[in-house]
Amino acid sequence: MRVMQAVVIQHPLAQCHLAAIRAAATPSHQFRRHLNLLARMLFLEATRELTLQETTVQTPVAETKGAILARPMVFVPILRAGLGMLDGILPLMPDATVAHVGIKRDEGTALPQPYYANLPANLASAEVFLLDPMLATGGSACEGVRQLKAAGARKITMICVVTCPEGLAAMEKAHPDVPVYTAAIDQGLNERCYIVPGLGDAGDRYFGTC
Ligand code: PRP
Ligand code: URA
Repeated sequence: MRVMQAVVIQHPLAQCHLAAIRAAATPSHQFRRHLNLLARMLFLEATRELTLQETTVQTPVAETKGAILARPMVFVPILRAGLGMLDGILPLMPDATVAHVGIKRDEGTALPQPYYANLPANLASAEVFLLDPMLATGGSACEGVRQLKAAGARKITMICVVTCPEGLAAMEKAHPDVPVYTAAIDQGLNERCYIVPGLGDAGDRYFGTC
């Protein structure tokens, strides 16, 4: 389903993983497993249209046609919670480059506070995937995309798990060229800028710090 620039993945298995990570009673070790698997499903959908390049493969029996990706792949988890998505996705593309962007939301203002970045030189030629389970006000994702574009990235896809109309509107305004893949568009934000119903603080739940 497409809403604004978002593609909502409604696969039944994705919805089961989402329900598991939404549940407050789900402990960290199960939250990790479900988030990893859900991220993997979202990534498979987000890469469905990637361009391939034809190659020749010599099997033990004969020569045949094969395929490789036309462009290198760069994963960019937003620290911390984005690491939970990276853990699920990286086994599918173990030779991808992993860049990092550290952004912490100020708990009082909900504004993004960038504190770290380590970006590779090949962003301009790469398929770049920005990873963060939560797109709430959109401040962190917009700042992450801004940094990536400033470093040369031209083809960026955002993958999150849960978002809301406010976050999507912010992304559409700042970066209308960046598609967002998600498992849910929730109702909205509460007074603390948490997504409702959401799943709480994704980083705390993934790393067991709540
Ligand atoms: C959370 C989440 C996003 C951000 C989303 O991170 O993982 O990065 O908030 O909110 P926004 O759309 O309003 O910017 P947080 O700042 O809590 O940091 P953490 O991952 O270190 O817990
Ligand atoms: N960050 C989270 O982890 N959860 C929210 O609902 C909003 C921001």
